[in-house]
Amino acid sequence: MTYFSYDARGALLAEKVPLEQIAARFGTPCYVYSRAAIESAYREFEQACRGHDALICYAVKANSNLAVLNMLARLGAGFDIVSGGELERVRAAGGAAAKTVFSGIGKSEAEMRAALNAGILCFNVESEGELERLADIASRLNKVAPVSLRINPDVDPKTHPYIATGLSENKFGIAYGDALRLYRKAVQLPGLRVTGIDCHIGSQLVEIEPFVAALDKLLEFIDALEAGGIPLQHIDLGGGLGIRYRNEQPPAVKDYLGQLFRRIGGRKLRVLLEPGRALVGNAGLLLTRIEYLKHGVSKNFAVTDAAMTELLRPALYEAWHEILPVNKRDAPGRSYDVVGPVCESADFLGRDRTLALAAGDLLAVMSAGAYAMSMSSNYNSRPRAAEILVDGDRVHLVREREKLPDLFASEHLLP
Ligand code: LLP
Repeated sequence: MTYFSYDARGALLAEKVPLEQIAARFGTPCYVYSRAAIESAYREFEQACRGHDALICYAVKANSNLAVLNMLARLGAGFDIVSGGELERVRAAGGAAAKTVFSGIGKSEAEMRAALNAGILCFNVESEGELERLADIASRLNKVAPVSLRINPDVDPKTHPYIATGLSENKFGIAYGDALRLYRKAVQLPGLRVTGIDCHIGSQLVEIEPFVAALDKLLEFIDALEAGGIPLQHIDLGGGLGIRYRNEQPPAVKDYLGQLFRRIGGRKLRVLLEPGRALVGNAGLLLTRIEYLKHGVSKNFAVTDAAMTELLRPALYEAWHEILPVNKRDAPGRSYDVVGPVCESADFLGRDRTLALAAGDLLAVMSAGAYAMSMSSNYNSRPRAAEILVDGDRVHLVREREKLPDLFASEHLLP
C-alpha cells in the first residue's frame, strides 16, 4: 500500500489530495503526513505483537508533532522520551505517563522530578551516576522510581556510524561487564524498584541479525540475574528497525518481531519496543518549490525553498531521499543537485538527480516523516515550516508555519 502516488494525469497525491493544492493553500516548504500510513505502520507492529505481552512505545524524537502523538496515543501506543520537553509533549497530546519510558544519557534533576511526578512506566538508566541521582531524587520526593538498566551489548548494528549506539565505543548504555554490579547496587539503593532491562543498538538497521545478537546477550544476562535473585518483569528492545529510502530491504515487522519473540520463548517477560522511524518515516514528505534553476559549468542546480534547516539528514549523514516532481513533465530530464538557500555547501537535499524541471515547479522529498521536522532549525533565521496531516480527502494544518516575529520573540535588546 502506498499513500503517496501519482494520478492518471501525473499529479502526485497524498492519500486523495493533490500536493499542488496543499502548496497553494499553505505555502512551501511544508511537511505532509499521511494519517493512514502512520496508522497502518502502527497496526503492523500491533499485529506482530498479538498473543504476547508487549507495549509499543513510539520514539517521540522521530516526529514529535502533537497531532502525530495524539493519533498514536489513541491507538493505544506508549512513548519513549528523551527529555522533559518530550514528556510535556506526550502529556499535551493525551499520551499516558504510565505507558512512557524515559531514555537518554543526560537526564537532569528537573527532568527526573517531572517524570517521577508524572508517574512514568520506567527510567532507562544509562550510568552509575544516573542511578545514584535518581535514587536520591526519588527518595527525597518520597517516590519509588521504576528502573531498567540500558545495557550496551557491544554489537555492530551495521548502520551509519552516527546512528550506531550499541558498540562499546558509543556513549550509550552500561557496559555489559559492569551490569551485574550495577543491578546489585540498584536493588540496594532506596527509592528504586528494578523492573526491567533495556537496550537500543542503533537506528536504520536493515538486518535482523544484530537485533538477535543483542537480545541473546540480554537473555543470557537476565537468566543469570534471575538465578542470582533479581528477577525482571520486562525487557525493552529499543527501536532501530530501518525503512526503505532507496533500495534497502529491511525485514518485515512480523519477521523481525517474530524472531525476537521466539528467542524470548516462555520467559515471563513483558516486551517493550521503541520504534520511531519504522512508524513514521515513510508516512511523510517535504513539499518544496523550486525558486531558481542554475545551469552551471560543471553542475546544474535546482534551488528549492527547503534547505538543510528543514531536512538535515542529507547534510549530516549523506542520507539519500527520493525526490519526485509533484507534476510530471513530458520532457527529457537533466542532472541536478537539489540544493537549499542556506549558506553552506553541505546544504543539499539530493545530488545528481535526473529530473525534468522548470523554475516554480514543486518537488516532494520523500521519506521525510522521521527525523526531519524534529531535527529542523532556524539557521539563517529561517522560520520553521508548516506541517499538514492528510486524512483521506481531508487536510489538517497540524503546525502553523513560524512567523518572522517568532524568530526573535524571546530575545532582548540591551538596556
Ligand atoms: N530508542 C532509543 C533509546 C533511541 O535512541 C532511538 C533513536 C529510538 C528508540 C528510535 O529509533 P528508530 O526506531 O527511529 O530507529 N537522526 C537519525 C536517527 C537518530 C536515532 C536516535 N535514536 C536519522 O535521521 O537517521
